[in-house]
Amino acid sequence: MGTLLKNKNILIMGVRNKWSIAWGIAKAAHEEGANLIYTYLGEREKEGVESLVSSLGEAGIYKCDITSDEEIDKLFEDLKAKYGVIHGIVHAIAYAKGEDIQNGFVNTSRDGFALAMDISAYSLTAVSQRAKDIMTEGGSIVTLTYMGAEKVFPGYNIMGVAKATLEAGVRYLASDVGPAGIRVNAISAGPIKTLSAKGVKDFNSILDSADQKAPLRRRIDHEDLGGPAVFFLSNMSKGVTGEIMHVDCGFNIMGV
Ligand SMILES: NC(=O)c1ccc[n+]([C@@H]2O[C@H](COP(=O)([O-])OP(=O)(O)OC[C@H]3O[C@@H](n4cnc5c(N)ncnc54)[C@H](O)[C@@H]3O)[C@@H](O)[C@H]2O)c1
Repeated sequence: MGTLLKNKNILIMGVRNKWSIAWGIAKAAHEEGANLIYTYLGEREKEGVESLVSSLGEAGIYKCDITSDEEIDKLFEDLKAKYGVIHGIVHAIAYAKGEDIQNGFVNTSRDGFALAMDISAYSLTAVSQRAKDIMTEGGSIVTLTYMGAEKVFPGYNIMGVAKATLEAGVRYLASDVGPAGIRVNAISAGPIKTLSAKGVKDFNSILDSADQKAPLRRRIDHEDLGGPAVFFLSNMSKGVTGEIMHVDCGFNIMGV
């Protein structure tokens, strides 16, 4: 057991099941002594998330649908009352309608575009603006992005455009909250099998090309993300903000 996150209250947003990236990060943060607090999307997810997270010991669990300003306000009020201060937030939330991801970017509907942007990109702004009042000892916000923000992945579509917005948002938010001692960074994760990834057309061929082309000749796993997330949440990265770090076994550096 390490101590990098000892006495730090870390809010994990985005655990849905044992395959969730957020759960892999929660386990790594737990190993470093963090006090973990979780949010879940809705009643459908509640029981599963409660039973999963209880395996790491007692933890606060709160409902928060990120499309609702009321729910986000209530979450941060409840956190303030219960914990006083939060030191770290992991934002691992994204969504786009299946038909908008799968039918080509050019065919994205107006509604689908707005929904994907709202849940996958604006949500980081919504969280960061409330976090300022509760990260009174300084803090670190970490989000998850994908290389589909930089290059075209034919099955990724609107989600790639939302991730590009999220990444630009990381820089603008880092600039805005930096004077309060709050850092904002992103991990650009290589492909990893999760429920969300199932919505991406030909996801298996993306995984295969990671195995074949990444310099390390393999795809990443949840553990590969735990270390970098702990790094961003801890004082080890105290001079780093506005950064997008690729954790993809080097796939992004390859031309062919
Ligand atoms: N799986 C990959 O290959 C991959 C690669 C790079 C980045 N990411 C990113 O990692 C993050 C986590 O995704 P994952 O792959 O672990 O999948 P996941 O399905 O396990 O997690 C997505 C989470 O988003 C939550 N969510 C969706 N709509 C929400 C809403 N309205 N309010 C609150 N929560 C909501 C879901 O409940 C779920 O917990 C996402 O941002 C995803 O884009 C995933």
